Amino acid sequence: MSSWYDHAIIYQIYPKSFQDSNGDGIGDLNGIRQRIPYLKQLGINAIWLNPVFVSPQVDNGYDVANYYAIDDKIGTMAEMDDLIAELHAAGIHLILDFVINHTSDQHPWFKDAVANPHSIYRDYYIFAGHHNQRPNNWGSFFGGTVWEPDPAGTGQSYFHLFDKHMPDLNWKNPEVRLSMEDVAKYWLAKGIDGLRIDAFIHIAKANLAQNFPTNAGANEAVLAEPFYANLPNVQKWLRPFCQHIKADYPETFLLGEAASANVNLAVDYTSQHAQMMDSVITFRYFPLRQSANDVNKPALLQSEDMDWPEFKKNQTIWQQTLSGVSQPVLYWGNHDMARVMTRVAHNAISAKSLAMLMYLQRGIPVIYYGEELGMENLQFTSPDQFQDQTVAATVQHADMSETDALKVISTHHKMPARGPMLWNDEANHGFTTGQPWLSGQEAPVASAATQSTDEDSMLKFYQQLFALKKFPIFQSGDYCLLPTDDDTFVYTRSDAGQTAIVLVNLSSQTKRVAIPSGKYRELLSSGQHEVSAERVELGANGGLVLLGNHD
Ligand code: GLC
Ligand code: CA
Repeated sequence: MSSWYDHAIIYQIYPKSFQDSNGDGIGDLNGIRQRIPYLKQLGINAIWLNPVFVSPQVDNGYDVANYYAIDDKIGTMAEMDDLIAELHAAGIHLILDFVINHTSDQHPWFKDAVANPHSIYRDYYIFAGHHNQRPNNWGSFFGGTVWEPDPAGTGQSYFHLFDKHMPDLNWKNPEVRLSMEDVAKYWLAKGIDGLRIDAFIHIAKANLAQNFPTNAGANEAVLAEPFYANLPNVQKWLRPFCQHIKADYPETFLLGEAASANVNLAVDYTSQHAQMMDSVITFRYFPLRQSANDVNKPALLQSEDMDWPEFKKNQTIWQQTLSGVSQPVLYWGNHDMARVMTRVAHNAISAKSLAMLMYLQRGIPVIYYGEELGMENLQFTSPDQFQDQTVAATVQHADMSETDALKVISTHHKMPARGPMLWNDEANHGFTTGQPWLSGQEAPVASAATQSTDEDSMLKFYQQLFALKKFPIFQSGDYCLLPTDDDTFVYTRSDAGQTAIVLVNLSSQTKRVAIPSGKYRELLSSGQHEVSAERVELGANGGLVLLGNHD
């Protein structure tokens, strides 16, 4: 049986940065409504919105204080209802971000848990330890320890895997599980089409009485993923949750964020037998060249060169291992990493080729807003702009000037990837008539308005690419990697006697690739190329898609 999401082409919108409609400098739901014609023309058929619920915005909405209302900086419930209806009228599905691992410390549950030691909500969170001593040495993803002293002064501490203002929920407690199910069903009843389930792999924790073995000093906190990522209880607790949602709303797309999941875990989470997620987003797609690492440098200052041979191997493994299991998610960027143009592509020809390489594989494309324009990371000039406590320390200990360190960090960090959308050539690129909530130095990239009148633009290319992606051959055709050298990535998709070949040159040298003899027609290209009977020559970073009936 086929579902709408088997054919999804998803556009990720960071709501605060997409389109401001009221001049307060923050993107909002009405802004998104104004841009539905743009989305439609781009050829996508679903959007994923980062969190829009009531939030103190410590982590830009991932710290939710009320799951049942829209943050007033972003809009109102009536506007959300209108957005849903208008998207649906345009044939676009809506996927909401759903934060299940933690709430804001301003959520009434947490406030009550702290205000009242006998509150039933105390057991909604993870309180442990005594005498204000942290129960173990586990480290938070946002730096420092996962423990924060109970503000009520009980001497206990509460657990936070992310910011200290984002206490983790205690999923061991069945009331928590049912409460989150209620939230999901509330939104599904409103007509949304899917949930992007945030950080779900972290809901189960190991016995808290253990320290993670480390050579670091006794007072150091260290990342301890084996104690809080992908533990068996994640599946035990989420399976009924997902089953109940599917029982009531069978067409819901459950897209799990499984950052550190390898391909075998992806199988566990998405096989039909598991009855959990439909697809997962892994962060293990982009292997970096280890030899480029300098052990003396902090992570944010390391060079981040893609290891292309490893990348090719890795993509092939994901394509093969998930075949017959679930649809891989195909993406180059999101709000948690530097933009693809800044991180990997570096020029338009390469960005177009990488897009065809990724999105014509088997799976569901997820495009990060502005990627279709070739947008780059902003460049920040002060450590506070990153809103990340680890940046200031990195800058301080860098063996280079602050200016240089900030330049490097700006090309690696997630925050500068969240800049305002470049709509047109008016003030603030048409994003706002006020002061944008986030700004920095911008690379010169043509706006959507300019690109829409240029046949060679990135925007036009993405439109053509999505039109191709809708061909059945690129949706459900068989995938086969062709044996070419490390500098080229070539695969075929075949279906009903037809074969498409996707050829990409990963190097900056001209490359020749042998192809099965046959009659081909060119569907899409980037950079220079020449096609002869059994061979294709691709210019630097070039890419080509051919369709034919081979012998
Ligand atoms: C996910 C989000 C990230 C957020 C974190 C905590 O990883 O993608 O942006 O900070 O969860 O909710
Ligand atoms: Ca606004």
